[in-house]
Amino acid sequence: MTFVKNAWYVAGWSDEFGHRLHPVRILGEDLVMYRASTGEVAALKDRCPHKLLPLSRGRLIDDRIECGYHGTTFGADGRCTRIPGQPRIPPTARVRAFPVHERHDIVWVWMGDPEKADASAVFDLPQMSDPAWDSHRGDALHIRSGYINVAENLVDPAHVTYVHPTTLGSAAHAAVPVEYETDGDPILAYRWIRDAPPIPLFARLGLFEGNVDRWQYFHLHLPSTAVIDFGSADADPESTGDRRREGVRIFALHFLTPVAANHTIDRWMHIRNTRIGDEEFARALDESFRVAFAEDKNILEAVQIEEEKPRDDEFRLQLAIDPACIAYRARIDELAEAERLP
Ligand code: FES
Ligand SMILES: [Fe+2]
Repeated sequence: MTFVKNAWYVAGWSDEFGHRLHPVRILGEDLVMYRASTGEVAALKDRCPHKLLPLSRGRLIDDRIECGYHGTTFGADGRCTRIPGQPRIPPTARVRAFPVHERHDIVWVWMGDPEKADASAVFDLPQMSDPAWDSHRGDALHIRSGYINVAENLVDPAHVTYVHPTTLGSAAHAAVPVEYETDGDPILAYRWIRDAPPIPLFARLGLFEGNVDRWQYFHLHLPSTAVIDFGSADADPESTGDRRREGVRIFALHFLTPVAANHTIDRWMHIRNTRIGDEEFARALDESFRVAFAEDKNILEAVQIEEEKPRDDEFRLQLAIDPACIAYRARIDELAEAERLP
């Protein structure tokens, strides 16, 4: 599995971190995390450099971790502060500390070269801090599939008709061509479906009476955050333009944490410009998302099982719907390759 290390990854929602030791696996690496009494979240490699006991098996004393085997103690910066029975602390007595940044109740960890960690690069969306929009947190969905499969699914409008027929998709989607912008970050796949019935989800929530112009903009931010901007406005046969500011608009955010080669956590949430403060509406929306994302999980886990089987040929059919996925894989390879260069 190709991992990009020089990037911020979601370690969890803020309330997953308290003043206790919390093991987290990201990119196959084991970290131990905790919230110090200053409020800052610390992330250390979850392995004592003495006999390799995971530090998460130790104890948090004040803001330091005491190893559960021989009591060697490390601070939030990874430096050793105490070795029982030994006054001298050698400079090599330390564990790796990972940069952490918390924003919008999400805790991010930088998995690569700490020198390159730039907090201003942590994902943000202006609507997340705009009172005209309502944010609602969903779940942490564990998917037994590699993050590249999961990310591809989130820049792939073509699957929606077939995988999500009761929520997000409809037959009117299937033949509408998708446009792509694959040179930038995010990678974008989008389309407009004009003068068509609302998707089942919007019809069920009573958001529209007649036909709508609707859109799907799938943004995939490298390496693994997806923003799906979708919505509808009352159909206007006069208009062929971008009508996203006129209608009911929802951002479905997916923060993918690659846990290991075949395990991804999809922490998802939504942001919307309608029914602000209406908890019941938010819950109804999330219920439909839950149905849809379980459908994706089902597909992606089946794909992973096939991927892991020994194969007698590597052939994969490429289709006209694939440009964003192809670009995504190429960009991940480029980023990973650049990290390997001296
Ligand atoms: S294994 Fe941690 S102090 Fe010995
Ligand atoms: Fe999907």
